[in-house]
Parts: sequence; structure tokens; C-alpha cells
Amino acid sequence: MSMTSHVYTEKDVGDFFDQTTATYLNFWDSEGVLHTGYFADDADEDYRAAAERTSDIMAAEAGIDGSSHVLDVGCGCGNFLIHLADRRGCRGEGLDLSEERVKFARELAGDRPGIGFRHGSATQMPYGDGGFSHVVSQDALFLVPDKPRSHAEIHRVLRPGGVFAFSDFLQPKKEIGERARRHVYDRVRWSGGYSLVEYQAALERAGFEIILARNLESHIRQTYRVLGKTARERAEGAQDAAARAWMLAFSDSCEEIQVAIDQGEFGWGIFVARKR
Ligand SMILES: C[S@@+](CC[C@H](N)C(=O)[O-])C[C@H]1O[C@@H](n2cnc3c(N)ncnc32)[C@H](O)[C@@H]1O
Repeated sequence: MSMTSHVYTEKDVGDFFDQTTATYLNFWDSEGVLHTGYFADDADEDYRAAAERTSDIMAAEAGIDGSSHVLDVGCGCGNFLIHLADRRGCRGEGLDLSEERVKFARELAGDRPGIGFRHGSATQMPYGDGGFSHVVSQDALFLVPDKPRSHAEIHRVLRPGGVFAFSDFLQPKKEIGERARRHVYDRVRWSGGYSLVEYQAALERAGFEIILARNLESHIRQTYRVLGKTARERAEGAQDAAARAWMLAFSDSCEEIQVAIDQGEFGWGIFVARKR
């Protein structure tokens, strides 16, 4: 795995996602969705629909249906598991390092039967061996400092032949410039990640067979283009000076993030793997 020079602990990551829950709810998505969109075409600027499309694509690629028992690792505010339960009729659990997000997820899920949320880490999961037919994750595992340990845990909780389907941020090249480090990596307490090829090797080492590995960097580029534009528009109308400053800074970061993608310092992909 390629690392940047900054190494964040799980506590750094959990604290960051606890402390930013309200900010992201205010700006990014009021129901707590916080993952990359899959856009219909270059002119598409509907982030919320694109984010739903990502969930639909992942559910279909994973083959989740009413008989599935699903674990969402890094579930954040719970949207993906709720989406899966509502649209596919599955049962499931969501796990996240941020207590604030787990609290929000529980409230959002209300009294839906068959789904629950817990606070905990991908590296030490509070579940028995082989209990899940599917483990899913959207844009969360890149944040785990000890990635092999999280892969081993995911492998452990899946039943034999179970499916691991996820989207994740990629670090396509080893050398990361200062600007990308500041606007992409340090911004979300990300120490470093895998390229698309390195990711597959890591999953194979953990006992998975690769079914699908797809580079989708154009979609993460469009996600930040659309969100950056929205932030700038909203900053213009913001009454509160602090909110305006935050949105302008975020919008500037979105420009830098697109440069980082073009320079191969940041990427995004979707993977499906099966437990051997
Ligand atoms: C970018 S958010 C994505 C949230 C959610 N999957 C979604 O699509 O909206 C990343 C999430 O990963 C969680 N996370 C980071 N490291 C984790 C770990 N070691 N174990 C569990 N969750 C983790 C964070 O707390 C955060 O909620």
C-alpha cells in the first residue's frame, strides 16, 4: 500500500466524522448520504439521484435480495442499508466508527424491522463468524489505517461463498503532492490507499476471489464538480459568515480535488469479490 507522510489513527478518523456530522448534514445531504455519485451523463448535475444510482448499481452487482443478510461497514448515517432494506427487502446491520452517525442512522431507520446499527470498527467487528451473506461498504474502507485487518474481519463475518461488494477511494500513484495531500487526504483524515491493481491483490491475499474491479474516476470527478458548484452558489446566498466561509473553502477544495484526479493522485472504484 502507498502511504502519504501523514498517518491518522482510528480515533482521529472517528473524531473527525463525529465532529463534522452536523456540517455535512447542513450542506452535503440533509439525510446523511455521503458517498460518490454515479452520473447519467456529463450534463447530469443531480447529486442526490446519482448517489442513489450508485446504491442501486452496487445492490445489483452484489446480487442482494430478500433472502440476503447484509452488513454495511462504515455505514455512516445508514442510508445505504435503509435503501437496501426498502428496495431489496433484505435484513442487515450497519457498523460505523462515528457514534454521532450511528445515532442519526438509528433515528432515520425508525421502526423498520430487520435492520440495526452499531458503533464499532471494521478492524474489530462485534459479529460472529460467517453470519452474513453480503458485506457492503461505500467510500469508507479507505479510512481504515490497518486495511489488511479490516479485510480479514470482513472475510471472517461472511459465510463461505459470501459476497463483498463496495466502492472506495483509490490512490492511483504513490507520490502525492502537497496540494492533493491537503485538499484530498488530510481534509478527511485519510492516510493513504491502494491503486485499483493493488486493491485486487490485497483482497486476494485476504482470501477473496475478484468478480469485478471497475475504475470509475470520471464519476468522482463529476461528484466534486457538482458539489463544488452547489457550494459556491449556496455561499453567495448564505447569511451566516462562518457557513459562507466553509462553503467557499469547500468549493475551492473541490477544484483542487478535480486537479488531483486528473494528476492520478485520487480515484474511485467499485469492487465485487467472493469469499473463497
Ligand atoms: C465518507 S463516509 C461514508 C458513509 C456512508 N457509507 C455513506 O455512503 O454515506 C465514511 C464513513 O466511514 C466511517 N469509518 C471510517 N473508518 C471506519 C472504521 N475503521 N470502521 C467503521 N467505520 C469507519 C466513518 O465514520 C464515516 O461514517
